[in-house]
Amino acid sequence: MKELYDMIFKRKSFRKFNDALSFSEEELQDINEEIKRLIPLITGIEVKYEIVPREKTTCKRGECCLLIYSEEKEHYLLNVGYMFEQLDLYLASRNIGVCWYGMGKVNETQYNNLPYVIMLALGKAEENQFRKDYRKSKRKETSDIWKGDLSFEIAEFVKYAPSACNTQPWRVVCENHTLKIYRITEIKSIIPKEKVSFYNSIDMGIFLYFVELALSHNKISFQRTLSPENNEADLIPIGIYMLKKEG
Ligand SMILES: Cc1cc2nc3c(=O)[nH]c(=O)nc-3n(C[C@H](O)[C@H](O)[C@H](O)COP(=O)(O)O)c2cc1C
Repeated sequence: MKELYDMIFKRKSFRKFNDALSFSEEELQDINEEIKRLIPLITGIEVKYEIVPREKTTCKRGECCLLIYSEEKEHYLLNVGYMFEQLDLYLASRNIGVCWYGMGKVNETQYNNLPYVIMLALGKAEENQFRKDYRKSKRKETSDIWKGDLSFEIAEFVKYAPSACNTQPWRVVCENHTLKIYRITEIKSIIPKEKVSFYNSIDMGIFLYFVELALSHNKISFQRTLSPENNEADLIPIGIYMLKKEG
């Protein structure tokens, strides 16, 4: 857990991979083993994946692509974001570069009867290609995304979660030891309007994982309640965390 928390500051979206480096069999096996350990946000949603050479997709970067398929049950996009962000952070600890790649297209839009959701581009990297100063990565001001109590020292860090086109659709209200997490729908980006909800829901799953990692790191225990799925409101409730400082 501590190791993954530290990766918040090291990870970045890899767009330039060193083609001279390639995965060993052991590394590929380790990735497969780690995927088995990913914790779902919601149990009971079937998720499958396959790792293919990037040439089997439209992706032009990385050595391979991890293609993610999921049952389309309530909150499945949150679940995909939450699960595979764990892998993004883990792979940073193994010097493997990752880029969530929403633009990528695949030939097979089904795998074991599950529809394709999104891919991650993966490639071996050098330690010095990772982020050196997270504060230099472009993010909104904390006060734009977080209202209320800041004393929990997590607001400053969770905002470094990755999001499609860096849209950072999350908003948080913290009061009375409760975190209320929302997704905004007024987004300025090049994402086609009809796709915003899809990508930003994955982003919100990623963000929930960052929040939980930061809470655990600060020894704050929590009880999470997800809000019913809703894609209509301007400010969409995603979930509520009841917090309790341990010890
Ligand atoms: C769901 C999702 C889809 C993304 N799709 C793309 C993509 O198609 N192409 C790309 O270059 N980056 C993509 N990204 C990476 C974001 O642009 C990146 O996370 C954001 O700009 C923040 O930068 P950072 O990840 O380096 O901190 C995606 C990220 C997420 C979470």
